[in-house]
Amino acid sequence: MDGLSRRNMLIAGGTLGALGALGMASPALAREWTWAPAGSVAGTGAGADPNWVWDDEADQLLASVIDRGDVPRVNQAMRAWTRNDQPLPDGLPADVRDFMQRARQLPAWADQRKLGVAARFNVSRGFYLNLLNGVGGGMLSTAIPREARAVYHSKGGADMEDRVAKTSRLGFAVGDLDAYQPSGAIIVEAVKTRMVHAAVRHLLPKSPGWQSGSDGQRIPISLADMLVTWHTLPTYAMRKMLEWRVPITSAESTAYLHVWQVTAHLLGIRDEYIPATWDAANAQSKQLLDPVLGPTREGVELTDILLGQLAEQTSPASISRPLVNALARYLVGDQIADWDGIEREPFWDPTIAAVWPKLVGFREKLIPLPLVPQLAWTIDEAARRYIMFYLTKGREVHIEIPDTNRPS
Ligand code: HEM
Repeated sequence: MDGLSRRNMLIAGGTLGALGALGMASPALAREWTWAPAGSVAGTGAGADPNWVWDDEADQLLASVIDRGDVPRVNQAMRAWTRNDQPLPDGLPADVRDFMQRARQLPAWADQRKLGVAARFNVSRGFYLNLLNGVGGGMLSTAIPREARAVYHSKGGADMEDRVAKTSRLGFAVGDLDAYQPSGAIIVEAVKTRMVHAAVRHLLPKSPGWQSGSDGQRIPISLADMLVTWHTLPTYAMRKMLEWRVPITSAESTAYLHVWQVTAHLLGIRDEYIPATWDAANAQSKQLLDPVLGPTREGVELTDILLGQLAEQTSPASISRPLVNALARYLVGDQIADWDGIEREPFWDPTIAAVWPKLVGFREKLIPLPLVPQLAWTIDEAARRYIMFYLTKGREVHIEIPDTNRPS
């Protein structure tokens, strides 16, 4: 770890110590699950606490695929599967093929009209959504202790550039104009991701690094964890866009939720946990996401790597890291930025807070150009490069099933 990371660690260290001392290592499990399945797309359900629910079908299958040494064969075959309408590739073991055939089906409640509205919304609001999902969501996920530790100790944690590239494949696919069209790719990427998560559930419990900080959890990525991360994507993005006064019609708002509901289903989240409305989503986010956010050593280190990579994309180098830090802080707020160990930037922090609303106003044709300060274009350009970093990387790689953890 370089000097910068050590400094960031010290920034977050005070909070880490305080949380530990208060015995708040696993706040998620300390709370009673009260979110009602009546608020879900299923409208009904047993109401079981999703902290104790995983993805049985996928988990059993991937455990078997790993144990019998079939991962290279499955990955090799899956590389050729890239479009929603494509038949499954040859070369898959029969049980994997059967599972994927079932897993790729859209739920009966998927509404193509809404998916079409969402696709157009995703493209027209791509600037905000990519920034919020790619960067904001990324900075939130490093402040989710379970996710930060899972990512850090899994195979991909050793190569964050590759990991960002793989993750942005899903982001790219969900935001595409043809996301759920035959030529799109979100069904493919979501099914692959569901399989990756199932593999991680089998592998990570064997990682000594993960075990020692798993806050009592024996199997990672419960459906509660999945929902937590899901809320860092649509729920958080919608909240921020409303806060920034980005004009959104009610049809767009409903459709944007819908595209993420269908994606949640394809990722293996049970319908009884997928919020049916924004009110239900916000209530669930409050119950699930808010209480689990906090600092970890792994999250601080991952944040530093991610922001360092982003800073490399912007120039000149003298302003890039401070600007990247400030933009990240602006997106997630002081509390989370501090937990992530993001340094405070005396010049850029207040500048972005002052200029961003004007930039949004100008983009949305709500305020005229003379009222937008010159500096806004530096920030706009930095944001654009951020986005390009996430999106272009995703084209180069394939989402693949891991067969090991991070080498310790
Ligand atoms: C892998 C997305 C939830 C941990 C991936 C990948 C994607 C993705 C696209 C494949 C890229 C790659 O292999 O690196 C999502 C989405 C989620 C979610 C959309 C929720 C809506 C979670 C949660 C955790 C987690 C809750 C942990 C608590 C991981 C890990 C990998 C992974 C460890 C594998 C990295 C490796 O191969 O080493 N996820 N994820 N994810 N995800 Fe998730």
